[in-house]
Amino acid sequence: MLNFDFQNPTKILFGKGQIASITKEIPADATILMTYGGGSIKTNGVYEQVTKALAGRKVIEFAGIEPNPSYETLMKAVEIMRAEKVDYVLAVGGGSVIDGTKFLVAAVDYQGDPWEILTKPVRTTKAMPFGTVLTLPATGSEMNSGAVITRKSTHEKLGMGGPGLFPKFSVLDPEVIKSIPHRQLLNGIVDAYTHVLEQYLTYPAGALLQDRFAESILQTLVEVAPKILADPSDYQAASNFMWSCTMALNGLIQKGVPTDWATHAIGHELTALYNIDHAMTLAIIFPNLYRVRFENKKDKLAQYGQRVWNITEGTLEERANAAIDRTVAFLHELGAKTRLSEYTDDYAKSADFIEKRFTERGWKALGERKDITPAIVKEIVELSY
Ligand code: NZQ
Ligand code: ZN
Repeated sequence: MLNFDFQNPTKILFGKGQIASITKEIPADATILMTYGGGSIKTNGVYEQVTKALAGRKVIEFAGIEPNPSYETLMKAVEIMRAEKVDYVLAVGGGSVIDGTKFLVAAVDYQGDPWEILTKPVRTTKAMPFGTVLTLPATGSEMNSGAVITRKSTHEKLGMGGPGLFPKFSVLDPEVIKSIPHRQLLNGIVDAYTHVLEQYLTYPAGALLQDRFAESILQTLVEVAPKILADPSDYQAASNFMWSCTMALNGLIQKGVPTDWATHAIGHELTALYNIDHAMTLAIIFPNLYRVRFENKKDKLAQYGQRVWNITEGTLEERANAAIDRTVAFLHELGAKTRLSEYTDDYAKSADFIEKRFTERGWKALGERKDITPAIVKEIVELSY
């Protein structure tokens, strides 16, 4: 097992009716900016619950944070925060609203051009306090310190983070799940599943407990995915789905093990280029990344195949290959498309474009062994057409 430090300060308020608890979590005298997205909270009862809990407080609303939150939209909120002397932010939404809010709390007092936070990138150690009410289980943003922000004008989607960006608290009420459209439920399942794979499907590091944490999250997602897609009001399935998504990316399972994250790096480019939903970019890329990096990953692939999919027959290589095939079949069973050409006709430019962009950024050594070069990225993307 590798050395690690682990600290996760986010308080989780889990379960039915917990939105009311935000009253006691936010200081009474705070000037609060409440951030949200395109309006789903206005039709599913979440907005009413939040405003009731904040009755009598000084609250300014900022709506319209879009999926794949943009720097352009967020800078308007930064101006409001400065003008109104906001000192607490409450994000009510999915990963995009929460990520956007992390940018706001980092940017508001940043000395310099806030886009530098993404490009340098700046590690944010101190930021304005914020809490979240999660409405879409997927990203884990509600209990981690990372965010991904898009600059529309340049088609760039970049990450940021730092210990100052953990939410003070997050409300996880599984009842919010019943209003989530099928497409976003599927995104949530696939995103969380891939988060586990990024931190688990590397090479054996002797971290027995972390491996079993990871496998148990995958097994739980496999079990609840069809149930939640069939009936998002199934509270039992919804609560397990929600907690699995949070646990998939709150830092715990990555401790003491190597991590990959190359699928996410490539996937962000596909979103920036073609506006494909984040999770679907992962479904396109990771099976082919595992095919191209097979020698590096075959030991863990075989372990994964055995423990999650009960694949016990054949040589190590055969079991590892069967694990990839079974995972792709799982994605198809859920309804995910796994080829880039199923999302866009304009796919043929992407491999060269991404290879060039990663080279220019100096991203020359991705993956758990730091050996995925831009040329290998190109090969993975081409295999994904
Ligand atoms: O905007 P509204 O109207 O709220 O509608 C949203 C949005 O259209 C809707 N939605 C959310 N909760 C709902 C609901 N509709 C009905 N009922 C509800 N309860 O769902 C749509 C998608 O929302 P979004 O927040 O974009 O989805 P998601 O949570 O999947 O977030 C994706 C973003 O997170 C980033 C992605 O790159 C992407 O930008 N990620 C963040 C990570 C992190 N911070 O750790 C890690 C991830 O790998 C990911 O990169
Ligand atoms: Zn993701």
